[in-house]
Amino acid sequence: MLSKYCMVLFKKIKELQAWLKGRQAQGEKTGFVPTMGALHAGHRALVAQSAADGLHTVCSIFVNPSQFNDPEDFRQYPVTPGADLSLLADAGCHVVFMPETAEIYPDGTAQAQHFDFGYLETILEGAQRPGHFKGVGQVVHRLLEIVQPDVLYMGQKDYQQCMVIRSLLQQTGKADRISLRILPTVREGDGLAMSSRNRRLTEPQRNVAGTIYQCLVSAAAKQGTTPFRIVEKECRELLQEKGFTPEYIALADARDLHLLEDYSPGTPMVVLIAARLGQVRLIDNMSL
Ligand code: PAJ
Repeated sequence: MLSKYCMVLFKKIKELQAWLKGRQAQGEKTGFVPTMGALHAGHRALVAQSAADGLHTVCSIFVNPSQFNDPEDFRQYPVTPGADLSLLADAGCHVVFMPETAEIYPDGTAQAQHFDFGYLETILEGAQRPGHFKGVGQVVHRLLEIVQPDVLYMGQKDYQQCMVIRSLLQQTGKADRISLRILPTVREGDGLAMSSRNRRLTEPQRNVAGTIYQCLVSAAAKQGTTPFRIVEKECRELLQEKGFTPEYIALADARDLHLLEDYSPGTPMVVLIAARLGQVRLIDNMSL
């Protein structure tokens, strides 16, 4: 028996747009989930939410070269198209867009539009990964121009990236037309935030990787009793003891990511951590 449900795959912009035009002409609204593949339950939650919201759901899989400041990270980025397609079909995705690099950047990345995210590019991920957010802005802008979604789904796991995209929508005058929906971080049983890079962890590394989450939980619990600089020191020491090289353990205003020296009652706050475990760089955050 033929199922009513079918998922279509496009590699070319023209064909994708012709398809989407047809759906939009029928009054359907589009939900969009941009990804770099190696999909996991975190990506799945975004796709499933878009489908549950009744939107014609498009997921892109494109490992964007311009956002990798580390060529080795780009080279090692996992590529699992078969598993990705079955996860997407199972999550209720309608359209998968898997372009080649030349389709996204016909004139090379240097020619593609660039954006300035100001302060956001100078702190935390921006400071640790020079050029990263320029690349993210470039590719997401390009993908939004192609897909023209009504709702854009992103994960809180990449908190600073969400703020960059919010700024992109404002800068490009799309904030009124596209609503940005940010969904909570999906975690493993030990609290480790799901990430495509987790599969590069060795077994002993995987066994301690949940320490980042423990640090976030303790930073949240110690609000009101312990100065943040003590919490930061304790977390740094615990991470080092477990074999991590911490990059930052920071407290910030959740609205604009302005860094805070200490907990500030009445201010919405977020704790953010980045740490390396061997070759793998992990990031996570928790709202207070
Ligand atoms: P990628 O890392 O594949 O993530 C795609 C989307 O999934 C992002 O919005 C990310 O925040 C979300 N996500 C990742 N892990 C998650 C988790 N554990 N729980 C919930 N959501 C999670 O982020 C990118 O790709 C790229 O920078 C991209 C935006 C696609 C531009 O190239």
